Amino acid sequence: MKSIPHSVIRTVALSEGLRRVLKTIDDGCSDLAGGFNLPRECYTDPEFYAFEQEAIFMRSWLCLGRVDEIPEPGDFVRVDMDDEPLVMVRDSEGEIRVFTPVCAHRGHVLCEGSGSTGRLFRCPFHAWTYGLDGHLVAAPSMNETVPLADLKAETSLPSHQVEIWNGFVFTNLDPAAPPLTPTLHKLTAALENYHIEDMVSMPVAEIRDCEWNWKPQLENGIEPYHSAYLHGVLHDFAHVRLTSFVPFEEADGAVYHPTGFYHENAGFNPTAQALLPIIPTLNEEQRKEVIFASIPPNLGFGVVPEGLFYYLVLPAGPGKINLRIGHLYPEESTQHPVFEHLYKIAQDGLVIFHNQDASSTASVQRGNKSRFRQPGRYSFQEESLLQFYQWLNIRYQAYARTLDDA
Ligand SMILES: [Fe+2]
Repeated sequence: MKSIPHSVIRTVALSEGLRRVLKTIDDGCSDLAGGFNLPRECYTDPEFYAFEQEAIFMRSWLCLGRVDEIPEPGDFVRVDMDDEPLVMVRDSEGEIRVFTPVCAHRGHVLCEGSGSTGRLFRCPFHAWTYGLDGHLVAAPSMNETVPLADLKAETSLPSHQVEIWNGFVFTNLDPAAPPLTPTLHKLTAALENYHIEDMVSMPVAEIRDCEWNWKPQLENGIEPYHSAYLHGVLHDFAHVRLTSFVPFEEADGAVYHPTGFYHENAGFNPTAQALLPIIPTLNEEQRKEVIFASIPPNLGFGVVPEGLFYYLVLPAGPGKINLRIGHLYPEESTQHPVFEHLYKIAQDGLVIFHNQDASSTASVQRGNKSRFRQPGRYSFQEESLLQFYQWLNIRYQAYARTLDDA
């Protein structure tokens, strides 16, 4: 079995400081009443961030986007997780593959953004060329030093595990990682009536260089306590007091909760009404709730009676992320005669919430830089936050044990 490569320069051994932070996290996430949230180092410290990249991002299922973003062979989307560029691509057999798109010759990155690469990835530096299966197919002027057949036999793009869940494409940089889907069985059952796998993706919006750590972005999506205050009257139709938390168990790969509506068919815009057609297969309860979910570490979404909005959280340093934000609707909704207008209004509605969350998240990041910041207490309305920290803690502790055992 292949193992995960890591930098020999980056410090991955546990320092005394890191041990103290891990102990504080472990002590704080046992229960709501006796617990406290994460220490500031988890949001700001470069050493903790380096540890976390290995403990979480190199070993967890990472979402790269939707299958329908790459419908044709050669279609690709490049998504970077900190230092790791990744590309999801549709191969000539119609299968989705995920590669590290880095040329085996001198390390040039093979593609930028998204689009179609045709039948090949061609490195712009020296024209080394790779098929959609990742194998080297051409390398000009190399035959004089290394026979091309030998070079081809030894050269291919690093290829990673792929799993599709409800139309979302996931990868895992750990070749030994167990599958994701069995860990999502509760969430999968809760979402069955929405038929997310058949929904159509709207164009993805990229927001780059957000000045905060990756965790507060997920925290915001699953913590309903703030909705009554930060979002105030805009969120009142989906009041925090209508939230019911779902028990979290160690094997769970998702943290989620439904929040009820005071009226059915509500939507996150200033009218508090869904603007697009209601998903016809929903039951009465589902027309009166939103399900906020996270599949850590990098997918968050909300499912409402008219569709789904999601965000991919892409870390770019201890205090920086990039975001890819998408909206999904049933195909028949997209054929509504004034869909483009309604979609625009629905999207503008969500932007109001996003902007409120962004300003508070940036402020939390700023506050966590202070040496005087101490871990805080939980409200009972933050149970899903505790669950997220338990998800993290399991992985932090497991990776720390592997370092100690090494
Ligand atoms: Fe929020």
